Amino acid sequence: MVSQLKNKTAIVTGASSGIGRVSAKRFAEEGADVVVADVDSDGGQTTVEQIEAAGGNATFVNVDVTDEEDIKQMVETACDTYGGLDIAHNNAGIEGDNSPLTEQTKANWHQVLDINLTGVWLAMKYELPELVKGGEGAIINTSSIAGLSADGSAPYVASKHGVVGLTKTAAVQYAQENVRVNAVCPGVVRTPMVERSLEKHPDAVETITGDQPLGRMAEPEEIASTVAWLASDDASFVNGHALPVDGGMLA
Ligand SMILES: NC(=O)c1ccc[n+]([C@@H]2O[C@H](COP(=O)([O-])OP(=O)(O)OC[C@H]3O[C@@H](n4cnc5c(N)ncnc54)[C@H](O)[C@@H]3O)[C@@H](O)[C@H]2O)c1
Repeated sequence: MVSQLKNKTAIVTGASSGIGRVSAKRFAEEGADVVVADVDSDGGQTTVEQIEAAGGNATFVNVDVTDEEDIKQMVETACDTYGGLDIAHNNAGIEGDNSPLTEQTKANWHQVLDINLTGVWLAMKYELPELVKGGEGAIINTSSIAGLSADGSAPYVASKHGVVGLTKTAAVQYAQENVRVNAVCPGVVRTPMVERSLEKHPDAVETITGDQPLGRMAEPEEIASTVAWLASDDASFVNGHALPVDGGMLA
């Protein structure tokens, strides 16, 4: 699948690290111009440098996905810099506190729901009108296997189930406008998010890999290739789907 996204513009949120960085790089390799959006400026600049070093085009925008003005600016930057918007990967997310439900604080509940769920809704609110204007478009929201099962803390699981619901609603509401909206539901992926958890619970490595039908975690490239496919014309009849990329964990 080479140069499938030539002449397209893509936004990736959470693109300073992990899955988002690799997805942004993959979009650029496929020929898209990429807006790298994240709260982490240093990481975002590094993603841009890596894309440019490989011959691609990218621009960093400092965006907190919970801030409506930031989101507006992110979409405006894509349109002003590259002339429109064709693809959005709404991926920014946090793991939050992993305590049992009764030990959760309201502050953590709100933070996880704000970033993981409200952030995706806000992004789609401003991306969709531009995608509609372009004539056809694709949104890929990052949910999780925690969006399809109880695999995680209560706020995280609730937020990721919410992303699946939002994805399906947007898919149905914008299908007639030629915009496809899907969610990707990764299993365990080797990213800084998982590395942080493993630092706190080093013994979990064996449990994590032992739970995996394939006997290993995913690499972020394995999620990015699925996202790139969902963004491409090869997935032209795939809409409203929540696709596990979990090595068979949910099977
Ligand atoms: N790693 C996994 O195993 C896994 C599994 C399933 C789903 N996911 C999901 O994948 C997505 C990416 O996770 P990752 O593993 O690459 O994590 P990561 O921590 O490596 O990257 C997350 C990125 O999101 C950014 N971010 C956090 N809050 C933000 C905000 N308010 N506004 C803008 N950017 C913000 C961070 O700065 C970071 O760059 C998340 O939505 C996560 O829930 C991860």
